[in-house]
Amino acid sequence: MSDFVSLGLSDWLVKQCQQLGINKPTPVQDNCVPAILEGRDCMGCAKTGSGKTAAFVLPVLQKLSEDPYGIFCLVLTPTRELAYQIAEQFRVLGKPLGLRDCIIVGGMDMVTQALELSNQPHVVVATPGRLADHIRSSNTFSMSKIKFLILDEADRLLEQGCTDFTKDLEVILGILPAKRQTLLFSATLTDTLQELKSIAMNKPFFWESKSETRTVEELDQRYILTPEKVKDAYLIHLIQKFTDEHDDWSIIIFTNTCKSCQILTMMLREFNFPTISLHSMMKQKQRFANLAKFKASVYKILIATDVAARGLDIPTVQVVINHNTPGLPKIYIHRVGRTARAGRNGVSITLVTQYDIHLVHSIEEQIQTKLKEYPVEEKEVLSILTQVNVTRRECEIKLESTDFDEKKEINKRKQLILEGKDPDLEARRKAELEKIKSQKKKFKQKIQEHIQRQKRGQLKKKLMKKKQMKNKKAAQEKP
Ligand SMILES: Nc1ncnc2c1ncn2[C@@H]1O[C@H](COP(=O)(O)OP(=O)(O)OP(=O)(O)O)[C@@H](O)[C@H]1O
Ligand SMILES: [Mg+2]
Repeated sequence: MSDFVSLGLSDWLVKQCQQLGINKPTPVQDNCVPAILEGRDCMGCAKTGSGKTAAFVLPVLQKLSEDPYGIFCLVLTPTRELAYQIAEQFRVLGKPLGLRDCIIVGGMDMVTQALELSNQPHVVVATPGRLADHIRSSNTFSMSKIKFLILDEADRLLEQGCTDFTKDLEVILGILPAKRQTLLFSATLTDTLQELKSIAMNKPFFWESKSETRTVEELDQRYILTPEKVKDAYLIHLIQKFTDEHDDWSIIIFTNTCKSCQILTMMLREFNFPTISLHSMMKQKQRFANLAKFKASVYKILIATDVAARGLDIPTVQVVINHNTPGLPKIYIHRVGRTARAGRNGVSITLVTQYDIHLVHSIEEQIQTKLKEYPVEEKEVLSILTQVNVTRRECEIKLESTDFDEKKEINKRKQLILEGKDPDLEARRKAELEKIKSQKKKFKQKIQEHIQRQKRGQLKKKLMKKKQMKNKKAAQEKP
């Protein structure tokens, strides 16, 4: 493996890397940095925690130092927290250059951002929605001369998930020069390759790590099979166990909704665990403050929705718990990738109910690794079950007495109006969709139950047959 100098980086940059403990290039850096320095578009697909950020930050800084001017590079990323993290990498590595960066994300003051943009920063790191808002509403800055467009978590930016970035991306691409270098990075690029290729125009250099598995070897991947009602008791038991057995630990727990995130946080606090939450219904400043407290280990447990699933680099995280089994293998890969980063060890534990088994199978198929069962003393879990469930109910009642649901509804309506949609019409559509979904779920459950019954029946028959054969044999052998 080569060193950073032989990849074409200047001494000052190599020194800067060393100060951060970045001494030898990781494979994604080894392969992508020279291609980017050559002027090629690049698509880099490498596992979580493998140093993709430096793989694009370093060559951009190198080029910037050779020819510095105005807005030189635009980085787009799906979440606000990630935008801050990427900007920080640029700032730290680009310190000797006197690099000026600017972060454009939602939930922060637009006027201040507009001023910063008009000051011609070298690097702009943005979430697509807010940057598109600035483009629509002002002409005080120009990006017509940028040299680099970078899409970190590129597949997320281009897929049509619950937050759809495609319209905002169109607005942004509309003001960028056609002649530019486009760099796309993610741990899961492969299923959006076609969309990505249409953005990276000049025959992109494509690099993908060769390993068969899609998660890192240092990650111990576990599951616990549990009935829905016992899930929380398992969770409390697991955390208690880690607290008892380890001095230095921090845990991220992923859950599927903001409400569940809120309830779990309240519950864990009732059990005196130092817990803090991160979800999209919180005010932005609170989100940043909570994440900072978790990073500084003031709080050891972070309960988050998928807003924290991608990109966040927090070296102290030793455990990731999936309170719900992710519906998509891709989401699983990113969630568990919050631990076992940059060669460290880590554990992930996924709580699986009987209805999620098919999800686990598709995750295993995608990552080419079998999850192992996590051994638990069931007696201990059952001994706290009633207490845990009573606490949950109390927390639910407490949350109902706040205006959490109401706020959620108002936020949603605001968002829909901003998108030019009719909230009432959308609500009716959603209700119909929910109905279809629940019918489908029931149908699926029925089929699964039927299959299981059939399997049990077949097994019973087999056993009976075996028994009969044995009896027959015994009868024949009798003198
Ligand atoms: N060459 C290197 N040697 C050692 N550590 C490195 C190297 N390059 C980067 N790192 C460190 O590895 C950690 C993970 O890097 P980074 O966040 O860029 O991962 P990533 O590939 O973007 O992961 P994800 O897919 O989760 O976003 C960071 O703390 C970074 O400082
Ligand atoms: Mg990353």
